[in-house]
Amino acid sequence: MTEGANTVTDGGDVPEIAVIPGDGIGQEVVPAAVDVLDAVGDYEFTEAEAGDATLDETGEALPAETYDLAASADATLFGAAGESAADVILPLREAVGSFVNIRPARAYPGVDALRPETDLVFLRENTEGVYAGHEDRLTDDVSTLTRVVTQSASRRLGQFACEFVEERGYDGFTVAHKANVMRETDGLFRDTVLAEAEAAGVDADTVLMDAFATHVCLDPEQFDVVVCPNLAGDVLSDLAAGLVGGLGLLPSANVGPERGLFEPVHGTAPDIAGDGVANPSATLLSAAMLVESLGDDEAGAQIRSAVESVLSDGPRTPDLGGEATTEDVTDAVLARL
Ligand code: NAI
Ligand code: MG
Repeated sequence: MTEGANTVTDGGDVPEIAVIPGDGIGQEVVPAAVDVLDAVGDYEFTEAEAGDATLDETGEALPAETYDLAASADATLFGAAGESAADVILPLREAVGSFVNIRPARAYPGVDALRPETDLVFLRENTEGVYAGHEDRLTDDVSTLTRVVTQSASRRLGQFACEFVEERGYDGFTVAHKANVMRETDGLFRDTVLAEAEAAGVDADTVLMDAFATHVCLDPEQFDVVVCPNLAGDVLSDLAAGLVGGLGLLPSANVGPERGLFEPVHGTAPDIAGDGVANPSATLLSAAMLVESLGDDEAGAQIRSAVESVLSDGPRTPDLGGEATTEDVTDAVLARL
């Protein structure tokens, strides 16, 4: 890996990928993904620090040079941050200008899943809602949170959802909301996304997000693309992880207009960090989304198919009932590339 945040390749030949492993199992699964990326293409990797350990060492969870690197690199691969996660991942998503977080949740053949028929994609609003950062402690007794929903962010998400379903051949999408209670905020969200669908001629229906939680457990096949406000997308995608075999399987892409940040949905997994047994699949599948964002669909398909083949045939890490290490699984993926 090379050092420094100024080795940008805009307009050059080799895409620059910022690599931010972070804390815990981020330090185990991100190097695995770098090895896999190295095997499928020609990329320049620039590593940077963030997270709890960085906070301890430098006094900042997200140093300015890491933010600047993510803001300028062609794409960023991120692992996870611990207790400082909100101070790391929210600004990093902002650094790449991300307005949508794509979270596919799919059951894979050979993996023991509660609902093997699950095949969903969450499109999560990525800039506002209750994660907009307006939280106050007014008195010892009272704390408040201001939920922000804008027509502009909802419209941008709605437009993205329309393009997404058209490009990928889906019949339409479902908007998950709670506008029966949050009439102004989720009312604006729902109506704006639906208006974009109507303008684009895309089929869209709606579901109350609490009812969705039940329906998706009982019959996940009735959904495919689910458009959600920020917090709902965070919670419901973790719920879907439970249906398909766990957090070790869910990748995500934070998409911005010019660049993206790619990360597993999971966190630092302190219960297994350092044991070398984290499932690298979520991060490897995030790497597949990363190379696709750079226009290399072939490399993305290669990674995906190698990961799926290893999930089907083994070796498997303990979260999937196996005894393999992160390295065993990564080597098996590399051998199939
Ligand atoms: P977590 O996702 O780290 O772990 C939840 C459970 O899933 C644990 O039992 C863990 O062992 C398991 N798990 C997660 N990823 C796995 C993998 N790749 N292979 C095998 N098992 C895996 O969530 P938790 O425990 O709620 O949070 C731990 C820390 O991570 C917290 O400090 C939290 O703030 C942080 N976090 C950071 C995120 C980020 O940086 N984007 C996202 C979520 C949590
Ligand atoms: Mg989460």
